[in-house]
Amino acid sequence: QIPPVITIDGPSGSGKGTIAHRLALKLGFHVLDSGALYRLLALAAQQHGVQTDNEKGLEVLAAYLDVQFEDNNGEAMLILEGEDVTQTIRTEEVGAAASRIAALPGVRAALLQRQHAFRELPGLVADGRDMGTVVFPDACLKIFLTASAEARAERRYKQLLQKGFDANLAAILEDIRARDLRDTQRAVAPMKPAADAIVLDSTALGIEAVLQAVIASACKTP
Ligand code: C5P
Repeated sequence: QIPPVITIDGPSGSGKGTIAHRLALKLGFHVLDSGALYRLLALAAQQHGVQTDNEKGLEVLAAYLDVQFEDNNGEAMLILEGEDVTQTIRTEEVGAAASRIAALPGVRAALLQRQHAFRELPGLVADGRDMGTVVFPDACLKIFLTASAEARAERRYKQLLQKGFDANLAAILEDIRARDLRDTQRAVAPMKPAADAIVLDSTALGIEAVLQAVIASACKTP
């Protein structure tokens, strides 16, 4: 029996992480935060002194990446080489490095297997940029969640302040625009809706309404 997959793709700050977690909870599915994998690799590269343009070095690092996704009372806890990096990988600096290394074909190929391994019964909700187009093209439901860059910057800003980080709204907006550009313009697995994806805009809808819309069209468990 092949476990069903629901994919939620879109730019950062669109609310896809929140939707993915709440949907997974509702359906009792596993969840894959694929962006976290790119962030973990970016952080590992930083810690091991591997430059973000060293494709071969990054491929090797990806192959041996020692990461664990643990459940901490319903929240994902991310462990890199035995160290809790749940907060560390969320900084804008790591996000920007993740987006740079994500443009390298060798890096994407090296992380593919790891992403497929999350597909387990009773099912998976996978969140990222290319979940519906490349990683799980046979997903039973594909959502592409967008929101204006301004709305996403505002959300990220509030999120960072809440977590006790220093934040600058203008710098975040600039970073989001740069990251969108890199993610949509790259040659391999660019961020775009799959041909069979449902496109939702959370600027207008709000997260709660998006969740209801996604639940209403969620594929049935086997
Ligand atoms: O979603 P998040 O902001 O955590 O992702 C960090 C970066 O990882 C993104 O900017 C993107 O470049 C990259 N990414 C990707 N493919 C995915 C998930 C994330 O290229 N499936």
